[in-house]
Amino acid sequence: MTDRIGPGAHLLVTGGAGFIGSEPVRQLLARRDGTRVTVLDKLTYAGNRANLADVEADPEQAARFAFVRGDIADRDAVEPLVARADAVINVAAETHVDRSILDPEAFLRTGVIGVHVLLEAIRRERDRALAGARPASPRLLQVSTDEVYGEIETGRSVETDVLAPRSPYAAAKAAGELLVRAYHVTFGVDAVITRGSNTYGPHQHPEKLIPLFTTNALAGEALPMYGDGMQIRDWLHVSDHAAGIDHVLRHGEPGEAYNIAGGTELPNRDVIGRLLAATGRDWSIVRRVPDRPGHDRRYAMDGSKAAALGWSARVAFDEGLAATVAWYRDNPGWIASAKSGDWDAYYARQYGDRLAAGRAVDEAG
Ligand code: NAD
Ligand code: TYD
Repeated sequence: MTDRIGPGAHLLVTGGAGFIGSEPVRQLLARRDGTRVTVLDKLTYAGNRANLADVEADPEQAARFAFVRGDIADRDAVEPLVARADAVINVAAETHVDRSILDPEAFLRTGVIGVHVLLEAIRRERDRALAGARPASPRLLQVSTDEVYGEIETGRSVETDVLAPRSPYAAAKAAGELLVRAYHVTFGVDAVITRGSNTYGPHQHPEKLIPLFTTNALAGEALPMYGDGMQIRDWLHVSDHAAGIDHVLRHGEPGEAYNIAGGTELPNRDVIGRLLAATGRDWSIVRRVPDRPGHDRRYAMDGSKAAALGWSARVAFDEGLAATVAWYRDNPGWIASAKSGDWDAYYARQYGDRLAAGRAVDEAG
């Protein structure tokens, strides 16, 4: 597939005020090639307009940018925006596994109903394109995750593996992907899927491992390590993830899914050790707490399909992590705003009993 979304295209990025979604917005506008971006974001607890402050402060970029507050599950909000878009990057989702265990419903509403609403709007534009009312049908890029494969003890997941999600979050993401595939096969909707691995970097909400442990360590607070801490994740820097999304959007084959693999597999203990070193703390602040129910032991993906398409990760984990810790150290106002609203209630519900039952742990175990 040749470059089909060229300079000057108009892209709709849903969930663009979140951690990952704001990064392709920054990258696309920073090219200064006439690309226009509209963000549709519900601004849930995880969404933050401040994540887009850089583009809004730059007059040339701001002139090519629009922000709409709204829900991807709201047809009236979605249809007019899709009607004006050359492509849709669907980044919007509820994204935290622990919250999906506490309260799964919002995950299904956004991950299933929301994806369906987007697909119906795109299908409508496809019909208009076939009728000659617009030049081409909009392409959808559905942002998915390695968690749709479920845990993998050995080896690496490839795109043709069966989807075997094990948390409500991962099940909602798999359901969204399956709908996308069905609309491609049944209605000819042009769609591609990316499955990214665990992503880290600036602007990530502090509910996730790296920003939670970084911000707690900077504040001298306890770090709640689930179980033995030997669960393995493959880490991907957010700038690499965004570049992968952009690459697959432009070059991916219709109907195909692509693993966007970080290529840095580490047990959580190892990540924690590096974060302690980067924040000048020691293992005395780490607490071994009761494990997450159904905790996936390991994720790992084979990245050769995306590599054959011309994308692979570039940011070395140690460099990316050092820059991420520095960003959190330099942005206490952003942390305070992310740890406001329902944060204290969430933290008490998720960690109150766990920390009370927790015990000291050291580097060796
Ligand atoms: P995030 O929670 O930081 O951001 C999600 C954004 O979506 C927020 O701005 C939120 O306001 C918005 N949103 C939520 N529901 C919405 C709705 N119904 N309508 C419109 N906007 C809505 O999440 P993130 O970590 O940036 O993840 C973004 C995407 O990447 C998700 O689809 C997630 O499944 C996927 N992903 C994340 C990771 C990771 O490690 N964070 C890894 C692979 C894939
Ligand atoms: P997380 O960032 O929630 O991502 P995911 O569950 O989607 O992989 O968690 C990454 C790993 O860190 C995972 O194995 C769970 C673990 N973890 C903890 O040990 N303690 C915590 O407080 C959190 C949030 C995660």
